[in-house]
Amino acid sequence: MMTRIAVLISGGGSNLQSLIDTVHNSYGRIELVISNRRDAYGLVRAKNHEIKNICIPGTDPNYDRLLLNKLEEAGIDLIVLAGYLKIVSPQLIEKYRNRIINIHPSLIPAFSGDGHYGLKVHKEVIEYGAKVSGATVHFVDEGTDTGPVVMQKCVEVESDDTPESLQNKVLKIEHELLPLAVKEYCLGNIQVEGRKVNIKKRGGNE
Ligand code: GRF
Repeated sequence: MMTRIAVLISGGGSNLQSLIDTVHNSYGRIELVISNRRDAYGLVRAKNHEIKNICIPGTDPNYDRLLLNKLEEAGIDLIVLAGYLKIVSPQLIEKYRNRIINIHPSLIPAFSGDGHYGLKVHKEVIEYGAKVSGATVHFVDEGTDTGPVVMQKCVEVESDDTPESLQNKVLKIEHELLPLAVKEYCLGNIQVEGRKVNIKKRGGNE
């Protein structure tokens, strides 16, 4: 049986698109795309691929309960946060422990935590003078960007990089890393022991 995936978004959904293109209906099935913002373009991407897509307005006082209901109704196994800018409730984290994956546009723990999202991350990297940055896929725990790291990949920060150019470079890496992590999850190759995530090595070519 295919892993039943829900993708939570707030914006453009280019990471969602990478999952649609490489994981959907092969390694897992994206059953549901949920946005906390009605104007999120990711909802259109889902619709274009006939994937159920709904908006629960972030301002709804029953937001957390409605979200949990939708995920339960759809029998979701794995939740992917792909550019999702809302705090996940402790109940949801508890219920889906080590089954919620997030993608963050830096090498955690650098340039991560509260307030680190969007262009701000890349601006800080450049201002700091770091020579590398990258993307991190991690499981979500109660902290901000503090859960066990699943995969990371670096990009070089060039002296002429701007926050925008660095963002583009990192986004490209994100589009490789997130589908890869989700694929390994769907294949049952990911094991979590405390903070350590082990990814089973495969023989042959898959
Ligand atoms: C990505 O940089 C992601 O890491 C971050 O928000 C951005 C979302 O991009 N959390 P998109 O909506 O997937 O295009």
